[in-house]
Amino acid sequence: MNNPANQRPGESCDSFVEVQSKHLMQCWGAQRGYAPVGVTRTEGCWIHTTDGRKVFDLRSAHECNNLGFCHPKVLAAMREQMEKVVYVTDDFATAPTAELARTLAQITPGDDNKRVWFAQSGAGAVEAALKAARFYKYRQMTERGRDNLAPEMHYPYPYKIISRYRSWHGSSTGALSVGGDPRRWFAEPMTVPGVLHAPDAYCYRCPFGRTYPDCSIECAEYIDQMIELEGGSNKVAAVIVEPVVGSNGIIPPPPEYFPRLREICDAWDVVLIVDETMTGLGRTGKMFAIEHYGIVPDIMVMGKALGVYCPLAATVFSRKISETFDDCAFAHGQSFSGHALGCAAALASLKVIEEDNLLDQVVEKGRYLGQRLEQLCRAHKSIGDVRGLGLFWTLELIKDPKTRESFRKHTQKYARTVVTDIAEFLLQKKNIYIPADKFGIWVVPPLVVTREEIDYLVDAIDEGLSLADRQMA
Ligand SMILES: Cc1ncc(COP(=O)(O)O)c(C=O)c1O
Repeated sequence: MNNPANQRPGESCDSFVEVQSKHLMQCWGAQRGYAPVGVTRTEGCWIHTTDGRKVFDLRSAHECNNLGFCHPKVLAAMREQMEKVVYVTDDFATAPTAELARTLAQITPGDDNKRVWFAQSGAGAVEAALKAARFYKYRQMTERGRDNLAPEMHYPYPYKIISRYRSWHGSSTGALSVGGDPRRWFAEPMTVPGVLHAPDAYCYRCPFGRTYPDCSIECAEYIDQMIELEGGSNKVAAVIVEPVVGSNGIIPPPPEYFPRLREICDAWDVVLIVDETMTGLGRTGKMFAIEHYGIVPDIMVMGKALGVYCPLAATVFSRKISETFDDCAFAHGQSFSGHALGCAAALASLKVIEEDNLLDQVVEKGRYLGQRLEQLCRAHKSIGDVRGLGLFWTLELIKDPKTRESFRKHTQKYARTVVTDIAEFLLQKKNIYIPADKFGIWVVPPLVVTREEIDYLVDAIDEGLSLADRQMA
């Protein structure tokens, strides 16, 4: 250890790994025992560590890193933008902010007469969506005139939000409250009132005990009933959903689910918010996952991969919602909203997606990955289900094929299970990083993953799964 007396300001006598473990408040974990791995540099799908290893990032940096680390075209666009404008308030216009807003209005489903608000996190963008949906419904009610309303409709206004149990929308209070993920339990009862959770469109464990396709999509019909029993259009403001559930199990719904949900929301005039934070920007083989289902949301949220290497998220409002604010303040905002540097990075990434035909590549590589994972499923009795779209896959592990009992119950999100063992095996023996806290084995590589890398990953997971096979009932 150096003598601290000889230290220059800003220079530490500890390694940055020790400093980080001592001073950084680690997310979603106890601080004692926090032991981050030191990183010297990153490239493509790989993280180079201070102990000389090269680790494949199979969770794509919290699913932000679609293009691979350090994409030269994005870095060049960022360098160029940094020399001009990094950030000014929205009393000023900048070329990247304007262009990105227009581009998102054009490439999201629906006509291009939309408005976009920029946040720095998915949670921030979700908060804007919830607030705008409630304002929209409030305006509707006040425009009708309180005197023309039934007495039970006078107070407070359509404020209820319907979400689903298996969902995650971020960790700020509003976003956390609409999420159904166990992480909300740490915040209860200080969550926002008026949130109701619907059962999930989860065919492998259908909450209604039905089997697709003979199920009449009861998971969607149930939401129709919920809206009615919760006071209909006069009490319910919005339904918020992930197009493919992410954190809570990578669950694509059946094809009929979203068309039916759209009909239900239209019939009740309830706002449909689609949260593409994890699934947007090509992850599932379409620019936005909701395009697989052919519907147009009223509000779309995106984040993570949008800003590539910059914290950037967006809430995209259809004209129906944005016109609420034509003559009434959009009472929301954040420092750094519309950050020009982040917007320039996002525009560069959209260009790469187009120039490199990345969406087609994701479809092709995703098909190959899916086939290889199906083969694993046949070889390992501990795999209950293989699900995914594009390059967004999971292997759901079970203890017992008859009962489908899971290795990790919903109440055991942070319990040590065989998923933790497999994650440790992959990191220590195969230099592959996957999240240890998920309900299954995540296979979510950067979209630039190669076929050879897919083979390496799947072979390694194959070995890791013997740990689960051995622990079966
Ligand atoms: C669907 C979804 N929405 C919102 C969020 C929150 O995003 P952020 O962590 O950027 O606040 C996440 C994060 O995982 C997410 O998966």
